Amino acid sequence: MLDNILCGRNRIRLLVLALSSIPIVRSTPSDPPRSLLQWKNCSVENFPSIARLVLPEYTDSLGVAPGLDCAELEVPVDWNKVEGENITLGMARYHATGPGLRLGTVVYNPGGPGGSGAQTVIWQALGIGKYFSNAITGHYDVVGLDPRGVGMSTPVKCDPRLYNARGNTYATQNLEFEKLVSSNKDFGESCRNMTGNLFFHVDTISVAHDVEELRIALDDDRLNWIGLSYGTQIGSTYANLYPQHVGRMVLDGNVDRYQSETSLLYAASAAYEDTLNQFFSWCNTTATAEECPYHNQDFPRLFKNLIAEAVKHPIPAPGCSGNSSSCLPQVSDIDILYNVQPWLSFVNPAPGIPTSWVGLARALNDTLNGNATLLSTAIATSNMDPLFPSLAVGCLDWLHNATSLSDLKYKQQMAINVAPLTKGAGISYLYQTACIGWPADVANPQRTLDGAAMAKLPPILMVNAYHDPATSYVWAEGLRAQIPSAVLLTRNGSGHTSYLLGGATTTAIDAYLVDGVLPGPNTVLNS
Ligand SMILES: *[C@@H]1O[C@H](CO)[C@@H](O)[C@H](O)[C@H]1NC(C)=O
Ligand SMILES: *[C@@H]1O[C@H](CO)[C@@H](O)[C@H](O)[C@H]1NC(C)=O
Ligand SMILES: *[C@@H]1O[C@H](CO)[C@@H](O)[C@H](O)[C@H]1NC(C)=O
Ligand SMILES: *[C@@H]1O[C@H](CO)[C@@H](O)[C@H](O)[C@H]1NC(C)=O
Ligand SMILES: *[C@@H]1O[C@H](CO)[C@@H](O)[C@H](O)[C@H]1NC(C)=O
Ligand SMILES: *[C@@H]1O[C@H](CO)[C@@H](O)[C@H](O)[C@H]1NC(C)=O
Ligand SMILES: *[C@@H]1O[C@H](CO)[C@@H](O)[C@H](O)[C@H]1NC(C)=O
Ligand SMILES: *[C@@H]1O[C@H](CO)[C@@H](O)[C@H](O)[C@H]1NC(C)=O
Ligand SMILES: *[C@@H]1O[C@H](CO)[C@@H](O)[C@H](O)[C@H]1NC(C)=O
Repeated sequence: MLDNILCGRNRIRLLVLALSSIPIVRSTPSDPPRSLLQWKNCSVENFPSIARLVLPEYTDSLGVAPGLDCAELEVPVDWNKVEGENITLGMARYHATGPGLRLGTVVYNPGGPGGSGAQTVIWQALGIGKYFSNAITGHYDVVGLDPRGVGMSTPVKCDPRLYNARGNTYATQNLEFEKLVSSNKDFGESCRNMTGNLFFHVDTISVAHDVEELRIALDDDRLNWIGLSYGTQIGSTYANLYPQHVGRMVLDGNVDRYQSETSLLYAASAAYEDTLNQFFSWCNTTATAEECPYHNQDFPRLFKNLIAEAVKHPIPAPGCSGNSSSCLPQVSDIDILYNVQPWLSFVNPAPGIPTSWVGLARALNDTLNGNATLLSTAIATSNMDPLFPSLAVGCLDWLHNATSLSDLKYKQQMAINVAPLTKGAGISYLYQTACIGWPADVANPQRTLDGAAMAKLPPILMVNAYHDPATSYVWAEGLRAQIPSAVLLTRNGSGHTSYLLGGATTTAIDAYLVDGVLPGPNTVLNS
């Protein structure tokens, strides 16, 4: 997902889900393989870093989970210096169960940036959730690769204390702005100091080169890919670099980062506001009073009042008050604005999916009644906290040119005009503010895809919901316009990404992956 799906207390987060300023001298990783993958059982003994992805009660099952195995791949930190220092990429594989024709491997990425593909695959194998349908697992091995810096791979390390001490991204005073910039810089420096050279190379172009190295190490002719959310960014970047090696590619919940900062923020602000309004109407029209306590009340007004109240008095989060707590004990208006958004990602509850609209209704009810635990902001608790890579990647991938308080106020004002309730909170605003002062140049700034590369692509499938709180339909359409061979399948509904829902859209995605059948142009499905 774009953004970790679970802010707040739960430390096990699922999903959650370009022209380089550094010239890429060598655009093709080694072919033939530098090494082939050596698959082993996923025990903690074999892969110590896997302990970061599962709760302790599951670690004994990792070595024996049916159909599951794991591997590691060495890649250069810097793809311009392939003889230099290496890092390790970790991955998990869930085997094709047959009996049908085996079609090879499909690589899965849940987005983030910072989401662990290995975790999703492991959770599927452990039966925590069912993310891949029988149609897929019947025909494909599913490989969840952890991008550099994430999960089982060589981590981004930072000082958690400095992460938690960062300034307010909605600064309105000069001093507050200066604190934001200097605290961003201090935190970034801690990451640079603790992570080493990898700090400068977690951008998505480097990740795309890693994915190519994986394809070669898998000994596959073409890369089959399911990318959700930020996984669409990895997929489109890969396609831009290696169009001749693209197989069946699904991009679901699309990031079109190939726009100006203002345009990105405008579309993102409108998307969040729109989906929140869908949630409010759901509360009146679909939900029962049990499911949504504000059934037939003026929920938008209540929400607005809640935010106004939290500006004056932060709301306590009693569930976050312990010493070892991983969320803030007081919740501000800004916390609520950022933390409601990921709750909009999935309408219906499902096993292994951590949020739903019923859950959001409850979180807001609790908060309106003085307990903001479920909308509290996650804090970092270790020097390898899974919160870190999202920022480390984002600050290398997204322009953040604001240099003054007035630049920031311009963004705030624009966002509030487009989105009076939600004020533009979300990943676009976050990167445009939390990266100011970051001690690394943007390695992969936005630009359009290369037309010559796109002309070489086979047909690919893009998917987006009309009411997506994180990746606007405008982004999907913007990306589709750059990929002539792409078909955009629309889900007429709400939520961020569609593949995990198991509805008609999932069936259409499976038909493409398994049979190569694409939906007709302008197809709209209702589930
Ligand atoms: C997993 O691999 C380790 C190390 O190779 C081995 O000791 C262990 O017995 C294996 N576990 C199973 C269940 O095969
Ligand atoms: C990096 O990994 C490759 C492939 O495993 C290996 O051939 C190379 O020697 C490694 N480089 C260093 C500096 O360890
Ligand atoms: C990072 O390292 C530099 C050089 O050693 C040092 O001056 C600086 O204080 C360190 N910064 C942080 C935040 O650790
Ligand atoms: C809403 O919150 C109130 C006060 O905590 C509680 O009594 C009520 O059961 C909650 N409603 C739902 C549907 O959770
Ligand atoms: C929900 O219903 C109430 C009462 O009829 C109404 O005041 C409110 O505007 C409705 N809200 C939405 C979002 O439709
Ligand atoms: C919590 O922290 C306080 C102060 O740091 C310490 O005195 C106390 O023992 C801690 N409690 C627990 C349960 O760790
Ligand atoms: C506040 O909400 C959290 C999360 O639902 C819950 O675990 C906790 O018990 C609540 N605390 C109080 C004091 O109601
Ligand atoms: C934004 O900053 C980049 C460098 O990070 C610079 O190349 C670019 O010209 C700037 N863009 C604008 C619109 O100021
Ligand atoms: C989309 O969904 C809405 C509400 O569920 C419905 O009114 C509309 O007819 C649907 N549109 C299409 C093209 O199916």
